[in-house]
Amino acid sequence: MLFDAAEIARRVDALAGEIARDIRGDLLAVVILKGSFVFAADLIRALERAGLSPQVDFITLASYGAGSESAGRVSLVRDLSEDVRGRTVLIVDDIVDTGRTLKFAREELLGRGAAAVRTCLLLDKRAKRNVAIEPDYVGFAIEDRFVVGYGLDLAHRYRGLPYIGVVVPTTP
Ligand code: PRP
Repeated sequence: MLFDAAEIARRVDALAGEIARDIRGDLLAVVILKGSFVFAADLIRALERAGLSPQVDFITLASYGAGSESAGRVSLVRDLSEDVRGRTVLIVDDIVDTGRTLKFAREELLGRGAAAVRTCLLLDKRAKRNVAIEPDYVGFAIEDRFVVGYGLDLAHRYRGLPYIGVVVPTTP
């Protein structure tokens, strides 16, 4: 266990407070699926408690590669339904690793005419970054370890764990 449910809940509330202090008025939260659906559900409700009521839309991006390593190619699997032109957008994702997904999403939204794009990441695995991008809001900075739970998967499973855990390899 890296972060338990209570620790995550406290941090998500604090993040929502920071965001609500910085951003006023119209906001479109763009949730990057699949991994961030659990974080986003909690963050959106925390934002509401903090006095900010964003619209919400979803985009599915995937970075393809073998096993736990992302290979460097980001593809758009399912698009937004909203027009982002002129909007202030908050990208919500579970983890930034190499940074490619976040960079792709940010450039895509700016390219479509978003007025401003802010980024909120629950986890930041800084050691793995290989493109220049820094998220605006970060829940927890973590070491280079493979994490699961609270939306994050291992081979498409364990997304429903209420905590974030580190995968420990077992010997056969
Ligand atoms: C994960 C995660 C981020 C991305 C981060 O998504 O949800 O979107 O990788 O990695 P990067 O910084 O190296 O681009 P993944 O492609 O595994 O898909 P999923 O969210 O559907 O599990």
